[in-house]
Amino acid sequence: MNIQSKLDLDQRARSILKENDHATYTVPTKGLYPFQWNWDSALVALGICEFDLERAWLEIETLLSAQWDNGMVPHIIFWQNDAGYFPGHNEWGTSHTPPTSGITQPPVAATIIRHLLKRSPVDYHERARRAIKALDRWHNWFSRARDPEKRGLVAIIHPWESGRDNLPDWDEPLSYVDISGVGTYQRRDTQHVEADQRPKKIDYDRYMALVQFGRKHHWNDNEIAKNNPFWVADVGMNAILRRAEYDLAHMAHELGLSEIATSATRRANRLEQGFEALWSNKVGGYVSLDLRHNKQAPFITAGTFLAFFATDQTQPHTGQMLDMLKQWRNKVAYGVPSFDPNHPLFDSIRYWRGPIWAIINWMIADGLYRNGHLKEAQDIRQDTQKLITDKGFYEYFCPLSGRGGGGNAFSWTAAMWLAWASPSQQEQASPSQHNKT
Ligand code: GLC
Repeated sequence: MNIQSKLDLDQRARSILKENDHATYTVPTKGLYPFQWNWDSALVALGICEFDLERAWLEIETLLSAQWDNGMVPHIIFWQNDAGYFPGHNEWGTSHTPPTSGITQPPVAATIIRHLLKRSPVDYHERARRAIKALDRWHNWFSRARDPEKRGLVAIIHPWESGRDNLPDWDEPLSYVDISGVGTYQRRDTQHVEADQRPKKIDYDRYMALVQFGRKHHWNDNEIAKNNPFWVADVGMNAILRRAEYDLAHMAHELGLSEIATSATRRANRLEQGFEALWSNKVGGYVSLDLRHNKQAPFITAGTFLAFFATDQTQPHTGQMLDMLKQWRNKVAYGVPSFDPNHPLFDSIRYWRGPIWAIINWMIADGLYRNGHLKEAQDIRQDTQKLITDKGFYEYFCPLSGRGGGGNAFSWTAAMWLAWASPSQQEQASPSQHNKT
């Protein structure tokens, strides 16, 4: 790529983040996702800090300002009205100010704040301490509300909490959800994106039944832990939380919050022990586990490779996972597909059933890098760079043709470009490479 086009793409990425900027938070993309989303904001801050550190802090502080009293940080914050999105805050019925959804999303925020902190002068330390305390309350909530039996695995109560909303992993656990009382409703997503890329009606009915269950029980954690019809340990969520606990412990220790450092380390150790229950000998990878029915998902997803993101300690199954990654890469033109390209359910353009996400690629590459697999990390970065350069800043990409799908001018794709995939970051295989402890 010549210098000029490289600069143009950096410039374009910054413009996308500015166009999607609502002063205190960034929308994922206009139209399709018009509010603040939890892990989008955290990941977007990684890109914003490349040109405006102060604005990057604000992004995450706005997110944490919507934290519930019980510690949960919600997955959507409805800062303003927009009739173009469904389900809106009335459907969630959370009676929270500001209005929010009733579920959470993967807590990647601690990892990103650690990255910001490394670049921030000392006068940010007080703000960092406030953020660390909020993160500690959030992570504690995960442990209390979502792992009440202390197995070292946290459950999700809705596919949307995983952030990988439409994975085949959820098909069987969702099939137990009673949809007889769902009633009629008007979807909005298919007005923005072609229906063949979006979930099917039967899945949407189940999603809505779960929203209605939570609303009926006033989003009460105990009731949900006992009776929510969907209670699944997602491999991605558990890997990201493990990493977040290590990063939280590290920051708390550095900034003199020793009690938080101790409790985050204790939680991280418990999660590390629990994680092995996600290993499946049958498919040879880490998979999701339906905790209600005690059944492992029979599929490998990109979530398997997030095990590298979880820790920089030696992985028990490293060789096998690297072989699998190589074998996947040989099947497709670009890596890393969100779902096993060898499986009959692989669907190269339907969301989370095949397509590539730049954010997942970053997390996998970051993990590989920290674990010493530099070549594999660089390969994933090269693929991401090529996809964005050739196709644009799409929400996701087809692993076979590279075609972009979902929303365009997507904030987190722009952020991953600026922080990692752009040739301007040539020296860096990963933005958090110096975080290895
Ligand atoms: C989709 C994705 C989710 C993301 C949201 C906003 O719902 O599955 O991970 O947070 O879009 O980008």
